[in-house]
Amino acid sequence: MKLLVVGGGGREHAIIKSLKKNPSVTEIFALPGNGGIARDATCVPIGATDIDKIVAFAVENHIDYAVVAPDDPLVLGCVDALESKGIPCFGPRSCAAIIEGSKVFAKNLMKKYGIPTARYEVFDNMDSALRYLDTASIPTVIKADGLALGKGVIIASTREEAKAAVRDMMEGHIFGASGDHVVIEEFLTGPEVSVLAFTDGKVVKPMVSSMDHKRAGDNDTGLNTGGMGTVAPNPYYTPEVAQRCMEEIFLPTIAAMNAEGRTFRGCLYFGLMITPDGPKVIEYNCRFGDPETQVVLPLLESDLLTVMQATTNGTLAETEVKFADKHACCVITASNGYPTSYKKGFEITFTPEALEHTYIAGAKEENGKLVTSGGRVTGTTAVADTLGEAIREAYRLSDGVQFAGAYRRSDIGKRALQALK
Ligand code: AMP
Ligand code: GLY
Repeated sequence: MKLLVVGGGGREHAIIKSLKKNPSVTEIFALPGNGGIARDATCVPIGATDIDKIVAFAVENHIDYAVVAPDDPLVLGCVDALESKGIPCFGPRSCAAIIEGSKVFAKNLMKKYGIPTARYEVFDNMDSALRYLDTASIPTVIKADGLALGKGVIIASTREEAKAAVRDMMEGHIFGASGDHVVIEEFLTGPEVSVLAFTDGKVVKPMVSSMDHKRAGDNDTGLNTGGMGTVAPNPYYTPEVAQRCMEEIFLPTIAAMNAEGRTFRGCLYFGLMITPDGPKVIEYNCRFGDPETQVVLPLLESDLLTVMQATTNGTLAETEVKFADKHACCVITASNGYPTSYKKGFEITFTPEALEHTYIAGAKEENGKLVTSGGRVTGTTAVADTLGEAIREAYRLSDGVQFAGAYRRSDIGKRALQALK
């Protein structure tokens, strides 16, 4: 089988490494992939949002199955376009990807179908939003409606900060048209859990839970990033919490999307907060998380391609989705200065052992060398019988990834370890 994977980060590298385990796979193309992914797939310089070129490439190369991994091509209708040429795909169509593409859509869906989430108001007029903030409870959370590269969420601890965020989004257009509508919502507290789930629109099969570490600095300080590391499973996701999530969140969400005529097939990501009132949805993503995928897929014992195809064919009920009873930890190595400004172009070196356990995100090939080309450069994952061992091993291995200005948080998994004790 010839496969195509749209995207080019650490998540896509993890997906490709997992897909390669299926013996019927003869070739994998990554569009655009990156210099590290090139070791495991044929990279083709077509951007992940260049849908016309992606479709033309897939048709010309007789692709048997396509995996669309990032949010923007999903929201833009990459799956719809490939399917219209008869190419089966993993991922939701555009009408379902809106669950991530529009926070206003997601919040209204949850309200309509009674799915637990933070209380909220939607504004399309700046003056009404500012007036509302005169009496809203503080801290409060301001969210731009559309995709904003994970940066469209501001937690404001004063009224002034909240108003400045609304002005920046609605008047300053710092997130472009994403800020035409804003959601202002209640600030929730509690541990966060990421649950990625396979669904064919009929049944939902959650993957092992995970914990992201979004802030740039140790002890959850500094700016929000795309994620500096992950562990799986997440100790806060107890069997009781899992059952409540299935009954109160996962199944109702699948049913709600069907009722809206927007059947979701693919990987639905539930960003959850375990509040004193029970689990609530912080956000939905229409795709695998990054770097959650880098700890979840190494624990998957079932064949990824088989499970993906079952979501496309509507046969997920009969397909086993099994995870190892082990622990995984992924430590991101980033360019010093990320997520604001950082230098690129530094040569990356690996010990052979580190290379084997590392997914490559922000790197490109230059004169036969791998050099840094992004903020998050690599993710190194270790799997072990205990969380403590997985963390130690992930750090030991990531020491074998070197480049000028390499930066890692030093406390990935620390909070999870404390929660286990
Ligand atoms: P998002 O981009 O929606 O994942 O939001 C980024 C981060 O903001 C989340 O991971 C949470 O830590 C935080 N966050 C979002 N919404 C809320 C909320 N209603 N209450 C507290 N924290 C929130
Ligand atoms: N790690 C968070 C995300 O993928 O959105």
